[in-house]
Amino acid sequence: MHPASLHRDFAPRLIAWQQGHGRHDLPWQGTLDPYRIWLSEIMLQQTQVETVIPYYSRFLARFPDLATLAAAPEDSVMAHWAGLGYYSRARNLHAAAKLIAAEHNGRFPQQLDAILDLPGIGRSTAAAIAAFAFEQRGAILDGNVKRVLARVFGIDGWPGEKAVETRLWALAEVLLPESDIRAYTQGLMDLGATLCTRACPRCGACPFSDDCSARRQGRQGELPGARPKKSIPEKATAMLILLHGGEILLEKRPAPGIWGGLWSLPECPAAADPARAAASLGYRAETAGRCPARSHSFTHFRLHIQPWLLPVERPFVAEEPGRLWLALDDLDGAALPTPVRRILEAIRGA
Ligand code: ADE
Repeated sequence: MHPASLHRDFAPRLIAWQQGHGRHDLPWQGTLDPYRIWLSEIMLQQTQVETVIPYYSRFLARFPDLATLAAAPEDSVMAHWAGLGYYSRARNLHAAAKLIAAEHNGRFPQQLDAILDLPGIGRSTAAAIAAFAFEQRGAILDGNVKRVLARVFGIDGWPGEKAVETRLWALAEVLLPESDIRAYTQGLMDLGATLCTRACPRCGACPFSDDCSARRQGRQGELPGARPKKSIPEKATAMLILLHGGEILLEKRPAPGIWGGLWSLPECPAAADPARAAASLGYRAETAGRCPARSHSFTHFRLHIQPWLLPVERPFVAEEPGRLWLALDDLDGAALPTPVRRILEAIRGA
């Protein structure tokens, strides 16, 4: 097919494919409730569908509507996000719910601009919510969609680069259909997630296989272009497990910053003496036991953690705000970063 015709034919073919072969039973597809759709889009921003599903249902069981979320304590929201990662998503979600309660009479805004103004919602997420909840016409461009468009239309370069991203947005805009925006938007996501996957695309089942630029040139492995290589920095820290009577001391992490809003172990520099670090927090420890080290990868760096177990006396004064003692038996409901949870589970099991 001539490339100009493919532009015109793209949406109808994608819509027909979505209706026949796309996904129709995802938990957030059975609703038009913008709150539920918004929650799903935020959880799905950096996380796979299979991981999201159990978090999504637990979150909705505890916070069934906007008003409940807006009125909830931050710790409870964070506890229901713990393990999903990218915690600014949860803080922004909570902030947006409060803002909607205060400034939109508790009703989720319907205009694209108003949706885009909410914390944690970018151009693509706003368009997805507007399409699914309100059937509004707008272009989406998440990682999956970038891959589909770069391959079908042969767009070279790394999509994280501004010039490439600008081209992809322009393409996403011109391809939009006049109607069936829900099936079209879902179709883009479904094609990227189920056929046009990064590592092994199933081109034989794809509605665009005859016209796809990458497929015709055998360049599926080269498109979209890779991020220019740079090594990610490594950081090291020590974590203090101050233990008294089956309880450990936690500190609330400041936001913004990694794990902001979660409860974590006190830290000191990797080279510092852990007993002295405990003393500077006001606790006396006779011994410090080295626990197995752990590593954790973030987007921008890798963190090496050396945990130390320090049995301590507890002072007979109230703890400062931002600190709490948690029983090792109560780990399950707490808003802990995943590596901290693993470290403490190992202590509990020991
Ligand atoms: N990824 C982002 N949004 C999605 C959705 N609504 N369904 C499936 N995967 C998605």
